[in-house]
Amino acid sequence: MTNLVSEPRAAVGERRHFAAVLRRGIEQVLLKLNRRIWRRLPGRTRDLRQVQAYGRWMHALVSRHADREMYLGTLFLRNRPALELMRRLFADRAQGSTLRIAVLGCSVGVEVYSITWTLRRARPDLTILIDAVDISPEVLAIAEEGVYGPQTTATVHESVFDRLTEAELLEMFDWNGDQGRVKADLRDGITWRLGDAGDRRLVQELGPKDLVVANNFLCHMDAPSAERCLRNFAQLTRSDGYLFVSGVDLDVRTNVAIDLGWEPVPELMVEIHDGDPLVRADWPWHWWGLEPLDRERRDWEMRYASVFTCGREQTEPREPS
Ligand SMILES: C[S@@+](CC[C@H](N)C(=O)[O-])C[C@H]1O[C@@H](n2cnc3c(N)ncnc32)[C@H](O)[C@@H]1O
Repeated sequence: MTNLVSEPRAAVGERRHFAAVLRRGIEQVLLKLNRRIWRRLPGRTRDLRQVQAYGRWMHALVSRHADREMYLGTLFLRNRPALELMRRLFADRAQGSTLRIAVLGCSVGVEVYSITWTLRRARPDLTILIDAVDISPEVLAIAEEGVYGPQTTATVHESVFDRLTEAELLEMFDWNGDQGRVKADLRDGITWRLGDAGDRRLVQELGPKDLVVANNFLCHMDAPSAERCLRNFAQLTRSDGYLFVSGVDLDVRTNVAIDLGWEPVPELMVEIHDGDPLVRADWPWHWWGLEPLDRERRDWEMRYASVFTCGREQTEPREPS
């Protein structure tokens, strides 16, 4: 009796498995072929709407089966328009006031120092307090030490200095041979914390922030984990604060943004979208690649914004009813 029932089920299971393997194989061949063709296309052809729609389809295929390994890669002044927007958003803060910031997925710290460099140069009167969080103790140790050189390249697999000019290299670091130590005034006010950005307790531990920055790590997660993190970030962000979140699956971010009623910040939106040439160049062939901004989409402002206001934070005390 048992065999009569289980044999056909086993056969169906085997057929499905075979079909899945076959489909995967065909997709891999298709991707390989298309990649070769894509590389040969002139820039103007790649910019055509139809070609970009095809690219989006390819990117969906790449992302569907991707083994989303976590990377540590990061660069000083990685997205200059985003840093410029931070400067502008806090330019009018009252003299001598305090700015509370959380940087999540901070890796070896270069994003945090890029933010302190940008804001302290613009507003030396502000007290800037940063909670910098990462899930890896290894990168936090490097971040806290604040010394960078060829050994950092070995850890994060890219030169963290690549986007800096000579003048910036001198302004940000004290040099000893090939070792750059971040200047003392850029290191003040930072608390390095081991933590998981998806952990709800983080909201209570860190308290509401004027600025929450969470870049280039949610794309390495599956959709439910990325969504959990995004909901956490909304709670961390004060009602008059800002959330900067990029390097995340655009559908996931758009769905959460709509669901939670986030408002996209239009200023420098296009510049920030194109502000990290590496992620733009990696589209559509890597899952972290960022698609070209398409203004003809009805949802384009929501889809391509990476800076939002999130409305009333839930940690605020409720008004008596
Ligand atoms: C690619 S780096 C991004 C660094 C930086 N945010 C940037 O944009 O240059 C990703 C970092 O996110 C960290 N990370 C991954 N998952 C995390 C989580 N759940 N909570 C906190 N950090 C996480 C990794 O350890 C890694 O250091």
